[in-house]
Amino acid sequence: MATLPKRGIFERMWARKSIAQVQRETETSELKRTLGKWNLLLLGVGCIIGAGIFVRTGSAAALHAGPAVLLSFVVAGIVCAFAGLCYAELSSTLPVSGSAYTYGYTTLGEFVAWTMGALLLLEYGLAASVVAVGWGGYVVSLLADFGIVIPPQFTGPAGYTLMKDGQPVLVDGQTVTTLFNLPAFLICLALAALLVRGVSESAKVNNAIVAIKVSVLVAFIVVGGLIVLSNLGDLVTRNWTPFVPENQGEGKFGVDGIMRAASIVFFAYIGFEAVSTAGQEAKNPQKDMPFGIIGSLVVCTVIYMLVAAIMTLLVPYNALNVPDPVAVVVDSFGPTWSWLAKLIKIGAIIGLTSVVLVLMYGQTRIFYTMARDGLLPGVFARVHPRFKTPWINTLLVGVITAVAAGFFDINVLGDMTSVGTLAAFAIVCLSVIYLRRTAPNLKRGFSVPLYPVLPLLGILACAYLITTVPWDVLRFFLWYMLGAVALYFLYGIRNSNLQHGEPQDRAPDMGEYVAPVGQQP
Ligand code: ALA
Repeated sequence: MATLPKRGIFERMWARKSIAQVQRETETSELKRTLGKWNLLLLGVGCIIGAGIFVRTGSAAALHAGPAVLLSFVVAGIVCAFAGLCYAELSSTLPVSGSAYTYGYTTLGEFVAWTMGALLLLEYGLAASVVAVGWGGYVVSLLADFGIVIPPQFTGPAGYTLMKDGQPVLVDGQTVTTLFNLPAFLICLALAALLVRGVSESAKVNNAIVAIKVSVLVAFIVVGGLIVLSNLGDLVTRNWTPFVPENQGEGKFGVDGIMRAASIVFFAYIGFEAVSTAGQEAKNPQKDMPFGIIGSLVVCTVIYMLVAAIMTLLVPYNALNVPDPVAVVVDSFGPTWSWLAKLIKIGAIIGLTSVVLVLMYGQTRIFYTMARDGLLPGVFARVHPRFKTPWINTLLVGVITAVAAGFFDINVLGDMTSVGTLAAFAIVCLSVIYLRRTAPNLKRGFSVPLYPVLPLLGILACAYLITTVPWDVLRFFLWYMLGAVALYFLYGIRNSNLQHGEPQDRAPDMGEYVAPVGQQP
């Protein structure tokens, strides 16, 4: 076992990487710089639009907010905007692979960076599983349209009674208990194999898929919007009255329900910061990263507001708790539009594929960076000689996400993802404040406006949304984080490069740094 230099444990936990060191590592990275600003924006959109709007919006409206899920989107969007601006500042200042993990390492120190790594495993790895489950839901539904039925036992998490329209599904007079989600499991493994082939191939596939996904949603908005406009008064009376259903307690409807639903649809926004994980592969990180992050957030917010309004106007909210709510809404357009329902399912399937791809990509690059820092075993950083990708790490991420998607319930996975991501966002906002105080002269490509109000609001808003999640999930989250902390002391702190002679920045003032990274070749 590695021996530790003789320094206090407390001192070691807060050891920070210097910004110059992070820049050096960027220069020596074996990854290729292939992504321009539109690639980055598409990478963001590719990650953002997914199971959140195609799947989870339905249950958020049906079980928690009613038509007011629209307001939940506003709340979640605002929280993301706070965090997004903080991400943009950090990514334009420290454009490196690993995203919030590396920001943590250079600002608040190694222990926070490790904690961030654990949170990001929820935000990327677990989110990929959630989206894979959503993907499975649309696949099962589309195949059923063509008369192909996957045995229901293999379409859900282990040990759940299968329900449809609020009733248990029966086969031979027996209720169906699901064993395993086969489609979700398989898509994770298949995409891991694609990612092993390399980022530029994957980015090209991703761009085409994003175009399809956005087109499908735009078609939904145009057709649905015209139908809504032709009968607006009636629809508002029928489905939007009351707009905020009466509070029934436990996060069901009323203002509490809107906030609970906000923590659910928050999932729909996760991904804009995935752009920052591509720092080592961006052509001009200084300018292009803020463009990618903020641009993709704005595009998606507009789309979500329109889709949610059309969904809840056209179908009573309590009918939306289904695996394929967008397709169910298209069915309400009438039989002439049944082709559109199928097209939307196909678009959703293709679209969700791109989300799983980008989330898995992000997770592999975070593991890669952590392994290069010695916080994870070196095998996570081993690059394939031909494909130039961290292939063992990618295959492992494929297996982890596949197992989670195969055996766990989408709501529990989704809530865990939201909590982990909200905690990560809060730390990012804190890092901005820390860096402004300790390195006021650092060159920033982008600065958060209304500093320090926005980062502070970001921290408070994230903390508040976490409190709306059920206690069961929060308890599981706390155990997970305790496990992560234990692992840090058992492995991370003992093997970290920074603890073994790598130069580190002890002085709080990092204001001497001048070399703009955007000017690197
Ligand atoms: N925002 C992504 C989705 O909704 C994670 O699927």
